[in-house]
Amino acid sequence: MTGRPRPSIAALPAYKPGRSAAAAEADHGVADAIKLASNEAPFGPLPSVAEAIALIAEEANLYPDHGAAELRADLARHLGIRVDQVTVGAGSAGILQQILLGFVEPGDEVAMCWPSFEAYPLFAQLVEAEQVRVPLRDETFDLPALAEAVTDRTKVAFITNPNNPTGTVVGTDEIVTFLDAVPATCIVVLDEAYDEFVTDERVTDSTRLLAEYPNLVITRTFSKAHGLAGLRVGYALGQPDVIGMIDRTLVPFAVNALAQAAARASLAAEDEMRERVAGVVAERSRVAAALRSAGWDVPEPQGNFVWLPLMERSADLGLALERRGVVTRVFDDVGIRVTVSDQAANDRFLTALVEAAAEET
Ligand SMILES: Cc1ncc(COP(=O)(O)O)c(C=O)c1O
Repeated sequence: MTGRPRPSIAALPAYKPGRSAAAAEADHGVADAIKLASNEAPFGPLPSVAEAIALIAEEANLYPDHGAAELRADLARHLGIRVDQVTVGAGSAGILQQILLGFVEPGDEVAMCWPSFEAYPLFAQLVEAEQVRVPLRDETFDLPALAEAVTDRTKVAFITNPNNPTGTVVGTDEIVTFLDAVPATCIVVLDEAYDEFVTDERVTDSTRLLAEYPNLVITRTFSKAHGLAGLRVGYALGQPDVIGMIDRTLVPFAVNALAQAAARASLAAEDEMRERVAGVVAERSRVAAALRSAGWDVPEPQGNFVWLPLMERSADLGLALERRGVVTRVFDDVGIRVTVSDQAANDRFLTALVEAAAEET
């Protein structure tokens, strides 16, 4: 072993991104594979956003604004909160890592329901935290059980709304009950990466909770609804002292100039973004209805993906889909997560699933 790596890092499994279409093509000798494995948007940046990116690309010799002051100001205005309640990072994943770096010491507890976003355990291990994982109930965050699991050693608790990979939501009332139940020494991270896709009326504007709960941090992203996953920009909302603490661990210039410009332009084109999201939501309803009428169990999807809790069938069905050029995200012995894309891609998935199921022994 070269050097003396920290044991916690040497033992850290690498983050596993969704398999690429090219990898599936090479493995299975198929052409035209599609990737529905990373909850990416099926569309490129909006025209005004592409223009902003092209303009700023000409200034790539210059460092970006480390604090992304203009983007923070835009976000604050947009959300009706103060600018010192907003920070930005390299994707919301970057911010989640910053939160754990800022608030968790070795041996502290980090609580979450499970299965959920696979980066949480990696980041918890990075800071040598003890993970407390509470099972989902009915594929949904079990907030009463999560609240029970929070102790005075719990520094961070995650609520993922909608949850990845199951796509389900908890109502804002339930989140309020949770916040009332846990001590203010525990930072509650409300991860809303898929917030723009939520149609369930039990979920209301969570930014209204910020004033009352100083330990609440809401994280969101430009990766999903805004379709800017390749540029890496996310944001967090919270009280100024918590935001300031998160800022301390931001890698210098982590949010690059293209990302800042694109995010600002995308915020300015909110109506167009909402139109695109409505298209994805309509496709989500169509896909879920088709699956259910074919007899599949599909928990109510509220993100840009659907979840098939296939348990021990998951690996084989996932492979059978991939052989047909449809790459999904397989969680062995748990389920398959499938991104809702454009109509043609969604139809390919539905057809491939019928064929894959017919092949099952
Ligand atoms: C629940 C959840 N949170 C956070 C992220 C991170 O997204 P990004 O870092 O692109 O903002 C993802 C990405 O898939 C996610 O599913």
